[in-house]
Amino acid sequence: MEIKNFESVKRIFNEGTWYHSVEFNEIKSKGTFDYTDTIKDLKLPRLDKLSVLDVGCSDGYFSKYFLENLGAKYVLGVDFNKYDGSIAFEVLNTYEEKYKTKYAEHDDFKILKKDYEKLGLNNSNKFLLLKKIFNLNMDYEFGSIYDLKSFPNSDVTFCGSLLEHLRDPITAIEQLYFKTEKFSIIDISNSFNSGIFKKEPYLKYVGSGGNFFHYSEQGVKNIMENVGFKNVKKLSSYKIKIEKYGYKIPHTVMIGYK
Ligand SMILES: C[S@@+](CC[C@H](N)C(=O)[O-])C[C@H]1O[C@@H](n2cnc3c(N)ncnc32)[C@H](O)[C@@H]1O
Repeated sequence: MEIKNFESVKRIFNEGTWYHSVEFNEIKSKGTFDYTDTIKDLKLPRLDKLSVLDVGCSDGYFSKYFLENLGAKYVLGVDFNKYDGSIAFEVLNTYEEKYKTKYAEHDDFKILKKDYEKLGLNNSNKFLLLKKIFNLNMDYEFGSIYDLKSFPNSDVTFCGSLLEHLRDPITAIEQLYFKTEKFSIIDISNSFNSGIFKKEPYLKYVGSGGNFFHYSEQGVKNIMENVGFKNVKKLSSYKIKIEKYGYKIPHTVMIGYK
């Protein structure tokens, strides 16, 4: 990369809004989540020579990890984010105004426009930024998990921390199933990892403005099995800290085979 663009990259890493903490040279972006030490706790399998469809890919942190650390040959990232300031997850109409404002605040394009443009980017899509500066074999497409038919089947499908934001997890998991050639990995945040519901097929309705359901491991397992996945099991459970607030969120990672 030319040195004149290096300053722009630095500014975006230092001053931009990031979902994940990402390291670039000596700089680390201040993400909502820092998976640097935690990612190994997910116990993700090797993906050597496999193609991956990363649904709800966000800034591409996981896509990058699949390519650089797990040996994947290609990742197609799909996300509902248009990077035009509009809300990128489902909310009921009643909550739309509130979330519109909150969401617009996350877009750092207004303050870093010049830097993005110097890098040939016309919005704040960090997935495309990471693709460019790390020279990664990955592409980004706008789309929804509810309709994946225009995207190619992939050896592996991955869906991280999206399920709890969806009003219809069954269609979502079914769509993943149709696109999967070998196996699918679903990372569920806010899962019930302890207590009496851990072993029950449990979905707790938690509201309609950002989060719809919280899930037990058995709840997700049942849905995955019902849409057709075989040998469904838990890969891991882990906790990740929300950097801003300091408390940790429980996650469960499931795998199901075609
Ligand atoms: C909480 S983030 C998770 C990011 C990343 N996958 C991870 O595991 O950390 C959820 C992402 O899903 C996207 N998203 C929300 N609704 C979606 C939908 N219906 N289809 C595809 N992506 C969606 C959001 O824009 C956001 O980037």
